[in-house]
Amino acid sequence: MEKIRSIAVTGKGGTGKTVVSTLLIRLLSERFPGRVLAIDADSAMSLCYTTGLKVDKTVSQLRSELLGMRQVREELNNGPTKDLMRSILAHGKGFDLLTMGRPEEPGCFCACNELLRYGIDTLAGDYDYVVIDGEAGPEQLNRRVMKSVDCLLVMADMSARSLQTAAGIIAVAKAGENNIDVKATGLVLNRVRNDQPKEELLKKVGLEVFGELPEDAEVNKFDREDRTLFDLPMDSACPQAVLAILKKLIPEF
Ligand SMILES: Nc1ncnc2c1ncn2[C@@H]1O[C@H](COP(=O)(O)OP(=O)(O)OP(=O)(O)O)[C@@H](O)[C@H]1O
Ligand SMILES: [Mg+2]
Repeated sequence: MEKIRSIAVTGKGGTGKTVVSTLLIRLLSERFPGRVLAIDADSAMSLCYTTGLKVDKTVSQLRSELLGMRQVREELNNGPTKDLMRSILAHGKGFDLLTMGRPEEPGCFCACNELLRYGIDTLAGDYDYVVIDGEAGPEQLNRRVMKSVDCLLVMADMSARSLQTAAGIIAVAKAGENNIDVKATGLVLNRVRNDQPKEELLKKVGLEVFGELPEDAEVNKFDREDRTLFDLPMDSACPQAVLAILKKLIPEF
């Protein structure tokens, strides 16, 4: 496998993208402090809660602000600067976080995604690892927000629908249309229970499993108590499962 530097997590809504992204960010930044860039590419904004960071400004807010100022509007038209992008990063323990946020006006999703893509492209080179918590479905692949990630982890639970969505996303990534250049794609099953027959379901959609997470009562508890997943005991089931995935992706981990 080629060296993995950037990992995007995608899949159907509610399948565990944010849980997996957060644990990837946590494990990578514990091991490689200061060398990890986290991207919250979901307009619903979750990483600020699961990592416990305060986000002062999102990419979407930056965009609206720039559009309101003539001088900076020109700057935006001429290509926004890296400094502007850097100025809105939130700083965590061992990682920085760029948050897309919700578009302020209706119908400007594309523009926000485009600015986010610029942010990712321009900042990624300053870090060794990039983790993207994506929006549900294949849209951000089509919008090329995730166009050149090294590894796309596609989440699914044991429902036929989420596996079909996963199969669709994997097909888009593998087709490589629209300048999408994803090097490796892996299906990650979440909330796996041993009493459910999964082989038959997987065979139906023609997918192989790259990683698995069990149902984890600790994750549920932290969620209810609105606590950051950075405080989740490392020996609980989900952190251990994500560690196993990282070891497969990054041999030196
Ligand atoms: N393995 C697990 N064990 C227990 N709870 C889990 C597990 N995975 C996810 N959850 C819980 O399921 C819910 C959905 O997970 P998460 O937010 O990570 O999904 P998502 O794919 O990011 O959702 P969205 O599409 O809304 O962004 C959360 O409340 C999370 O705490
Ligand atoms: Mg999420």
